[in-house]
Amino acid sequence: MADSPYLASRLHGFGTTIFAEMSALAVAKNAVNLGQGFPDTDGPVEVFDAAVTAIRAGQNQYPPGIGTPELRAAIAAHRLHWYGQSFDPDTEVLVTAGATEAIAATILALCEPGDEVITFEPYYDSYAASISMAGAQRRVVQLRTPDWSFDPDALRDAITPRTKLLLLNSPHNPTGKVFSRDELALVARLCVDHDLVAVTDEVYEHLVFEGEHLPLANFPGMADRTITISSAGKTFSCTGWKIGWVCARPDLVAAVRTAKQFLTYVNGAPFQPAVAVGLGLPDDTIRGIGAELGAKHRRLSHGLAAVGFTVLPSHGTYFVTVDIRAFGETDGLAFCRTLPDRCGVVAVPSVVFYDDKDAGSPLVRFACCKKPEVIDEAVDRLTQLVAR
Ligand SMILES: Cc1ncc(COP(=O)(O)O)c(C=O)c1O
Repeated sequence: MADSPYLASRLHGFGTTIFAEMSALAVAKNAVNLGQGFPDTDGPVEVFDAAVTAIRAGQNQYPPGIGTPELRAAIAAHRLHWYGQSFDPDTEVLVTAGATEAIAATILALCEPGDEVITFEPYYDSYAASISMAGAQRRVVQLRTPDWSFDPDALRDAITPRTKLLLLNSPHNPTGKVFSRDELALVARLCVDHDLVAVTDEVYEHLVFEGEHLPLANFPGMADRTITISSAGKTFSCTGWKIGWVCARPDLVAAVRTAKQFLTYVNGAPFQPAVAVGLGLPDDTIRGIGAELGAKHRRLSHGLAAVGFTVLPSHGTYFVTVDIRAFGETDGLAFCRTLPDRCGVVAVPSVVFYDDKDAGSPLVRFACCKKPEVIDEAVDRLTQLVAR
């Protein structure tokens, strides 16, 4: 495959993603699926009702390329309300087919072959694929266990004359790290000093259990050099709707829009008004979504610790990472591939998010965005694994 003339040979994983593999395994083995990050319950009823209403009202044809006016207005109002940021909904907001398309379109729009993109590892797998598709190179800075800190000098050293973008994901998948104010201040300072554009992936912005989500664009000098990306899927438990967005200064949005229009052109007509409803929900409702997930996160973390895993800190997102070495195992990929047969549970090997395979190998990611009884069942089954 490495000699293949096709672009696909450069893409991370060279085939279907580990999430697809593990979800298929969960179905085939009737296992509890704590692999792929999708909830097993619907989000706020108002949001889902609004989608049904929109379909019934005939909002089923191509929406405007930049997104419906009401969703763009809702995105701008949401950024202002939660973070004090000001975006013009007509020129500084673009609706995309999930954050995934926003990331791909941004990198395709801004990177030339040979350019470099810095990101932190472990990294969400679409970053590597999007960077490859643009013909660019990734440079990674490692978030180190056990506390997911990074070496500031490693970040400084990763910047070269070819660096085009710095891609930051906070709250972070797969670790659940929420970057601190000091860490973000350092990232911002380096972007300003080296005249870099930052791309932020904030899809878990409302799913923080400890600390606070701080958008990088709010740091000194960053408003005009940050492309802020988020999406509705995680917050409103509608990962299948694929409604995301980009907020940035007009010329950057125009560049991303140019790439987007030849990827999907437009997307999700009836879901756009529904997400607009979601973004306008009262603060208590939105905070309640995070609090409910936080309870599930604690339930799973305690359960995994009781089973005997070393549970690494995680302060947000859908995920809990464990180190399997406490079980005398070191190969997370083999562990996850055999786990359904051994005890009927599916998880994701974190090594797929790493360039440094040694660092990622003993780590395994479990999703907590499931009903409490599903989490309990998974923990029960994992306990049997130990008993054997
Ligand atoms: C960090 C991160 N970014 C982006 C995405 C994709 O978001 P969307 O479903 O909106 O494309 C995910 C989904 O798991 C994610 O974890």
